[in-house]
Amino acid sequence: MEAVQLPTTWSVDQILDDLDQHGFSIIDNAYDQDYVEQLIEECTSNLNRFRNAAIQNGVVSNIRSDHILWLNEDLEVSQQHVQTLHVLAQELNRAFFLGIKDVEAHFACYNAGEFYALHRDNPQGKNGRMISAVYYLHNEWQDDWGGELHLQDKNDKWHTLQPKPNRIAMFQSDLLHEVQKAKHQRLSITAWLRSDAQLI
Ligand code: OGA
Ligand code: MN
Repeated sequence: MEAVQLPTTWSVDQILDDLDQHGFSIIDNAYDQDYVEQLIEECTSNLNRFRNAAIQNGVVSNIRSDHILWLNEDLEVSQQHVQTLHVLAQELNRAFFLGIKDVEAHFACYNAGEFYALHRDNPQGKNGRMISAVYYLHNEWQDDWGGELHLQDKNDKWHTLQPKPNRIAMFQSDLLHEVQKAKHQRLSITAWLRSDAQLI
């Protein structure tokens, strides 16, 4: 793979400052239109492979109702996004000494009526997830379509973030958050920047 650079729309200074002050940061217009279309194509052409996210290792939970597909090397388009997050991780490590070593990621699809109840991606530091980064890749999202990311920032202030196309919501993995019930199909890539090199 060619050397990956951060897109010019990603302001590292802004991201570092937002994470430092609030524990989260929003990147809009993350990628150029050509790449966005390739990502949507890779996601939608694989929807038949997505699995119920509530069932992990045979155990069923009722906290979430979305469907997911873990990324691997044969999903080449989304791998480029993962590589870009690796480049950003180096900046985060330099600034905050997070010791990020790995990025794990899955596509997620919330069909109408689906949600993810209040949770933390890394409660009490029990896993190596340091930063969560959710990229939204549906073509369109209107304000009354639900599916908002509701997030408590590091100063305990709540934010309601719209899953706008081509946006990345990045936040500390220990923060409390939820995905409100979507009214239309909501597509994303959820990635975790991890301080351990756990294989999925
Ligand atoms: C998750 C999650 C948020 C979102 O997958 O753990 O909280 O906006 N996703 O999709
Ligand atoms: Mn989460």
